[in-house]
Amino acid sequence: MINDLWYKNAVIYCLSVETFQDSNGDGVGDFPGLMRRLDYLHGMGIDAIWLMPFQASPGKDDGYDISNYYDIDPRFGTLGDFVEFTHAAKQRGIRVLIDIVVNHTSDQHPWFQSARSDPNSPYRDWYVWSKTKPKDADQGMVFPGVQESTWTLDEKAGEYYFHRFYKFQPDLNTANPEVQAEILKIMGFWIQLGVNGFRMDAVPFVIADKGADEQKPQQQYDLLRWFRAFLQWRKGDAVILAEANVPPKQNLQYFGDDGDRMHMMFNFQVNQTLFYALASADTKPLIKALDETRARPDTAQWGTFLRNHDELDLGRLTEAQRKLVFDHFGPDPDMQLYERGIRRRLAPMLGGDRRRLELAYSLMLSMPGTPVLRYGDEIGMGDDLSLPERNGARTPMQWSDEPQGGFSRSDKTVLPVISEGPYGFAHVNVASQRRDPNSFLNWTERMIRMRREAPEIGWGAYAVVETGEKGVLAMRYDWRNNSVLLLHNLCDYPHKIALDLKMGEIGLRLIDIADGGHSQAEDDGRHHILLEPYGYRWYRVGGLDYILRRTEI
Ligand code: GLC
Repeated sequence: MINDLWYKNAVIYCLSVETFQDSNGDGVGDFPGLMRRLDYLHGMGIDAIWLMPFQASPGKDDGYDISNYYDIDPRFGTLGDFVEFTHAAKQRGIRVLIDIVVNHTSDQHPWFQSARSDPNSPYRDWYVWSKTKPKDADQGMVFPGVQESTWTLDEKAGEYYFHRFYKFQPDLNTANPEVQAEILKIMGFWIQLGVNGFRMDAVPFVIADKGADEQKPQQQYDLLRWFRAFLQWRKGDAVILAEANVPPKQNLQYFGDDGDRMHMMFNFQVNQTLFYALASADTKPLIKALDETRARPDTAQWGTFLRNHDELDLGRLTEAQRKLVFDHFGPDPDMQLYERGIRRRLAPMLGGDRRRLELAYSLMLSMPGTPVLRYGDEIGMGDDLSLPERNGARTPMQWSDEPQGGFSRSDKTVLPVISEGPYGFAHVNVASQRRDPNSFLNWTERMIRMRREAPEIGWGAYAVVETGEKGVLAMRYDWRNNSVLLLHNLCDYPHKIALDLKMGEIGLRLIDIADGGHSQAEDDGRHHILLEPYGYRWYRVGGLDYILRRTEI
């Protein structure tokens, strides 16, 4: 086993350059601004940044509609600024992952413009066409309620083109070898500019057979191996983190049986059941999801997360489970989106309750995998549901109580800064939380440090320890003769639990690594631990001499 696969025990922070820090007063975040905030990120202890798309784009889907893969949106700076940024990140030991959006382009991309204008265009076959409207054109929309079709007539081409997402996002014909070669070229370009890998957008669609006659499109998994092989050749420590919200039994196809495809995948199954667990205080579906996603090649890793820039997609829960999560965390129709999700930020979903926020984060940090945090969640930012669709949870970072939350000098910002109510920047901002030792920001920092010092979670194997309470999750991770035990009480009432670690002498002593409350097993050999409502514990099994006991293999 290679010891230094950095992504196995890391913390990733995702942000959009557009809403992080504006440096030139035009109301839009930019790379020079982001650079000025690198020390903040460094101080938080993160290992890598994942940047949402920042390439040239008409911006109709927040940059997920790219019109030039080889340049950046001029509002964010220049390619020169970008390279300064990747260099500055590297100096601080922070790796940079960027979104790679190659399932589709913008309809304004010159390739599409050429393809639609001329049947003999070299780019015609880069897209997916049909002379007649396919029968299933009103099926398979990713944005139901907003998107009407997956095939739209292009007047100029005189044919229908396929688009899995919005109609301004024509799908690339990824079966075309020229398109495949171009995807590698795009990766190669950004690697050369200093990035350490990619969050690959919409992977199941990228590798799916596309076309009007496809009844049951198959996935061409080999493509994933080629992407990886190319990347590994160009830059050894670069990774691909796949966005693939697929049923658990397909996961191994994405990782590859030999770990020869995607390095990382977001664990959507655990994400959804985790929210269900928080809403219902029933850990069983979460334990099942953990079990279903347990198998993975040694070199592969899950990306675990709570919220991201999209809606909280609850599409894999049962109807009854989804309803319960809606009732608890997004009861108004306006809080819901695309018939399957919630478009709020984490803090308002949890009623701004510090205990529940800590529980949610502690739980997420203790899931098998590498945590991916979302900008603003470290200070408990809120949302602005007056903004359309997913934009409500994409408002600018709140740095201080100065105008525009310190995000920009401009009167008008790209999306409004949240200025009113309990989540307004006067109340929720980095500067004031920085000064308060008990703030959520400082708590998050400590948790990140603790998580990184518990490589058992990233590298090790876990077992669920029986507590007899479905409202309590107890997980033990083992790695190299070291173990940690993590307890979470999801209930709004206390629980006294009895635990038998069955580890012999060493298991009789638990050292609390977050707080002072250690535990010594009683005469019956069991630990009797009182967990307060929404309480959690991070224990080292044995003593703090674990480092001395750690083995090399
Ligand atoms: C992914 C992105 C989402 C985007 C879509 C189309 O699902 O996360 O934000 O709208 O792909 O690119």
